[in-house]
Amino acid sequence: MDADATTSFIHAFEPGSDPTRTPLLLLHGTGGDERDLLPLGRTVAPGAALLSPRGQVLEGPMPRFFRRLSEGVFDEDDLRRRTHELADFIEAARRDYDLAAPVAVGFSNGANIAASMLLLRPQVLAGAALLRAMSPFATPPKADLAGRRVQLLSGAFDPIVPAQDAARLAATLAGNGALVDHRTVPTGHGLSQADIGLLKTWLDKA
Ligand code: MLT
Repeated sequence: MDADATTSFIHAFEPGSDPTRTPLLLLHGTGGDERDLLPLGRTVAPGAALLSPRGQVLEGPMPRFFRRLSEGVFDEDDLRRRTHELADFIEAARRDYDLAAPVAVGFSNGANIAASMLLLRPQVLAGAALLRAMSPFATPPKADLAGRRVQLLSGAFDPIVPAQDAARLAATLAGNGALVDHRTVPTGHGLSQADIGLLKTWLDKA
């Protein structure tokens, strides 16, 4: 374990004001940064601590959490390595900021690394909301996700994530014991008010 892991990622941290709320780990999409999802976090989980790292891969000027070979085709070795680095950062941040295990709220590229973390380092997360996620691995590893709550929100007209791919991810997670709430909203890859309402309701039950 790297003792300096909290400084290993540029990140934003907002302390919580409501100790009953589970902290959120906010993971932005391609081209976003650590500030992107803070307003969403404040809206869907008022009073929760917010931990929001910036992805360390640059695709041109755009930060991401791992490399891809083309849209929807991932460099799986890089994904594995970066998932462990991010998991180490979260463990260090939990110690430094005195946080309970967070629920990840990831969008697009951030949702995909959150799905990877569920499969590779499940103990790091209390659960995950995966907004527009796809299957991160061609052959997913086995993981013990018994009792982990996962919300998967897909877009009916998403040009990036095929419906069968999101369904495969839901089946993989459920097959490993996760309690998966998979919904499809009538929109594309971007988030809509429907997503925010479903996410808030799901988080309120955490
Ligand atoms: C990814 O690369 O993670 C997915 O294609 C989603 C995206 O970031 O566009």
